[in-house]
Amino acid sequence: MYYPVYRPRRLRRTEALRGMVRETELNARDFIYPLFAVPGSGVRKEVGAMPGVHQLSQDELVREAAAAHAVGVPAVILFGIPEHKDETGSEASRPDGVVQRAIEALKRELPSLVVITDVCLCEYTSHGHCGVIEGGDVANDPTVKLLAAEALSHARAGADMVAPSDMMDGRVGAIRRALDEHGFAQVPVMAYAAKYASAFYGPFREAAESTPQFGDRRTYQMDPANAIEALREVRLDIEEGADIVMVKPALSYLDIISDVKTEFDLPVAAYNVSGEYAMVKAAAANGWVDGERLMLEILTSIKRAGADLILTYHAKEAAALLRARGA
Ligand code: PBG
Repeated sequence: MYYPVYRPRRLRRTEALRGMVRETELNARDFIYPLFAVPGSGVRKEVGAMPGVHQLSQDELVREAAAAHAVGVPAVILFGIPEHKDETGSEASRPDGVVQRAIEALKRELPSLVVITDVCLCEYTSHGHCGVIEGGDVANDPTVKLLAAEALSHARAGADMVAPSDMMDGRVGAIRRALDEHGFAQVPVMAYAAKYASAFYGPFREAAESTPQFGDRRTYQMDPANAIEALREVRLDIEEGADIVMVKPALSYLDIISDVKTEFDLPVAAYNVSGEYAMVKAAAANGWVDGERLMLEILTSIKRAGADLILTYHAKEAAALLRARGA
């Protein structure tokens, strides 16, 4: 099968032919839309480095979720920015917390929307780390207890799925046990399994107001240089009871997504993070790239690498575009 007998261009000649042999199809069904919940009402505050992404009070959050759902996005993932932050992030598991109330409102107004919650303490702690501090570093086991309580409070408020993003050891197992013991055996855990200590989270920390006040997250998030360790992390989370495993960020870690998809048989999610989004929007605003094409190419590449689900700030826009094209 060599040239001139085989001519690859034959099947690229028209859009119809290209469509027939296309291997990867983006679908709005694969998207999970991240939303940032803040207290109050009538609040819709754009995040500086993320054009089109806003901190939303409950009323606005329901409106935004409804708009995304209407164009085919099946799920949202919620982040909460509380009224008050403290050393242990105690607002994270309050029954009347900002995320808990947002869950209730979404389930009431949009019953068919899948509501996932990010389970972490960094938005709730005064120091911005993902757990309680002892001796200048995040203490693992005391943090795991708080995370289990946070996940349980999300389930009690009606969350359809919880997603721990803290990277503490053993937290998936602890959350699974807490859910099971309290009658939430049906609530799945989507584990941020291979989450790297990445500069691509910069804009998110502005959105979530969660920049660490000292040090960085390298004692709990993974070293970007490691790939084999990602398989170890994913295996651990599966053994502890994860239902979906996530790789984060996505774009600089397509090899990891591919490795995880090949090695394991659980659904794989990938998080197309804030910095990846910001780069596209900034370049497009400068007229340096075609933003829409770039967005679809990036999302397609993440799916092609092996992601079954994609968490992306582009969700609403991409879903609307796919719908307009009749995809
Ligand atoms: C919380 C959390 C982070 C993100 C998701 N959950 C920030 C971090 O770990 O610093 C990043 C998401 C993004 O950049 O879009 N731990």
